[in-house]
Amino acid sequence: MGKYLIVANWKMNPKSAKEALQLFDLLKKEARNAKNSNVVICSPAVWLAKLAQSGGLKLGGQNCHWEVSGAYTGEISAAMLVDSGAEYVILGHSERRQYLGETDEIINLKIKTALKAKLKPILCVGEKEGEEMNQVVERQLAGAFAGLGVNQAKEIIIAYEPIWAIGTGNNCLPDNTLSAALFIRRVITQLYSRFLAEKIYILYGGSVNSSNAADYIKKARMDGLLVGGASLEEKEFAKIIHSLAK
Ligand code: PGA
Repeated sequence: MGKYLIVANWKMNPKSAKEALQLFDLLKKEARNAKNSNVVICSPAVWLAKLAQSGGLKLGGQNCHWEVSGAYTGEISAAMLVDSGAEYVILGHSERRQYLGETDEIINLKIKTALKAKLKPILCVGEKEGEEMNQVVERQLAGAFAGLGVNQAKEIIIAYEPIWAIGTGNNCLPDNTLSAALFIRRVITQLYSRFLAEKIYILYGGSVNSSNAADYIKKARMDGLLVGGASLEEKEFAKIIHSLAK
C-alpha cells in the first residue's frame, strides 16, 4: 500500500481567484507535513493554471469532454486540463450524472480520452437513497471500464460516494463502506484480475470530516478520501490530513 490519497473536490467554489489562491496556500502548508498522504486539489478549471504556478500540491479537474477538440461550446478538453497543470480528473461525479445527464457510456468515453491525455481519472460511483448498492455500483463499474485494457484500468482511482451521504452530514458507516469496497474489488476481479482488484485505489467520499476521516482508513481500510465541503475550510481539512497521520 502506498500513500493515502486525499482529494479535495472544491466543486463550484470558492467565489474568486484570490480566495482560491489563499485557500490553496493554506492547504499547502498543512499538506507539507503529511508524510503518509498525497493531497490533490480539484479546483474549478479556470484557476488551475494559477494554482499550478503557485505549486506545491497536485491538481485535478472536475470534468473533461470526451472529444479531443472541436465545436463543443463551453467544454474543456483533457489536454487543456493537463496544459493547466492537472494530473487528475474527477469523472462521473453524481452531481454531473444527476444535473447534466451523464450516462455510464459518456463517462466511459471521458475516461478513455482522459487516459490518452495522461490524466488519472477519479471515477465516482455510488447509489441513491433506497437503491441497492451492489446493483448500481456493478452497473456503473461495468459501464465505466468497458473496453479498457488492464494497463488503462490500473490508472483509474475509484471513489465510492453514496449519493445520500454527499453534502448531507449523513456519512456512510465505516462497516458499510468496507463492504462496498470489498464488493468493488470483487467486481474488478471479475472484470480483470484479483491482482488489479487488490492494487486499485478506492477512496470514500460523502460528508467526510475531521471526526470520521480516520475511521475510513483504519476501520474501512480505504486508500484515501474524496472531500467536498470540508476541503473548503482550511482548519477542518488540515485536521483531516493530520488525523490520517496518527
Ligand atoms: P461532501 O462532498 O464531502 O461535501 O459530502 C463529497 C463529494 O461530492 O465529492
